[in-house]
Amino acid sequence: MTVEFEAIGVVGGGQMGSGIAQLGLVHGLRVYLLDSDAQALARASKSISMSIQRLVSKGNISEADASAALQRLHCTSKLEEMKDCDLIVEAIVESEEIKKKLFIELDRISKASAILASNTSSISITRLASATNRPAQVVIGMHFMNPPPIMKLVEIIQGAQTSDETFLATKALAQRFGKTVICSQDYSGFIVNRILMPMINEAFYALYTGVATKEDIDTGMKLGTNHPMGPLELADFIGLDVCVSIMRVLQAGLGDAKYIPCPLLVQYVDAGRLGRKQGLGVYSYH
Ligand code: CAA
Repeated sequence: MTVEFEAIGVVGGGQMGSGIAQLGLVHGLRVYLLDSDAQALARASKSISMSIQRLVSKGNISEADASAALQRLHCTSKLEEMKDCDLIVEAIVESEEIKKKLFIELDRISKASAILASNTSSISITRLASATNRPAQVVIGMHFMNPPPIMKLVEIIQGAQTSDETFLATKALAQRFGKTVICSQDYSGFIVNRILMPMINEAFYALYTGVATKEDIDTGMKLGTNHPMGPLELADFIGLDVCVSIMRVLQAGLGDAKYIPCPLLVQYVDAGRLGRKQGLGVYSYH
């Protein structure tokens, strides 16, 4: 299957969805960006426009290319408008139940050849694929890192039934976006979060048990291992609720007590300290 990508759909206008939409736009595709929340959609459209404008001011793209890219953006709240998309990627809330409901709808509205992709950070692609009636071969994991326009990696996950053709077409699209692709089997957390989240969780244990201050834990990992952000700062950036939910997926899927989320991390989430998006997490952003 050689797919000539012309149009893609992105479901979810949050940070990940709008970042993926931006990638599609600046790489010549028509992009249908869907969110049921009109305000979220307006915010996404504004942030894409500002981000593309930044590319112009940095001299990365011309004014004409930026304007053409923005004209290829179609913001919508109607799934049916994605019926001609060659690939539809979802970047909605990390809930297996909600994603499955969406995949049932995507299966109904999309053309038979469309690839249905999930940007899930840890949920089983095989189980999401099983929600569809179409041959499950066209369902795949396409996991972008945050922020998608900047991070150089896309992790591609083949479910138990994903075909090699779907993998190759999805890989080609990620490469068109300028990304390096890694391929993971469909086990909880895939590659990146399988390794990253226990590190973040351990940083919370270090804080919880009084090993050091939050600043010293972060500085230790930033300067000691050359990470751009310390693990606690990164957890705030990702969202503490997202970190807890990924740890729970690891725990359920891999069955090892080492994946139990740190009580301090859980307590922050229970207290509504969700990280940067909320203005308060390990650090305050007010
Ligand atoms: N969209 C587009 N561009 C962005 C951006 C965004 N959301 N955020 C930052 N940028 C751009 C800025 O415009 C800037 O560009 P120039 O250098 O060309 O001017 C560049 O990125 C650097 O930004 P800043 O100067 O504002 O800040 P910084 O140097 O501190 O970099 C960062 C910000 C890129 C986020 C950096 O701190 C970083 O790499 N952090 C680690 C991020 C990371 O690990 N992400 C993966 C998380 S794990 C994950 O995503 C998987 C999961 O499932 C949870």
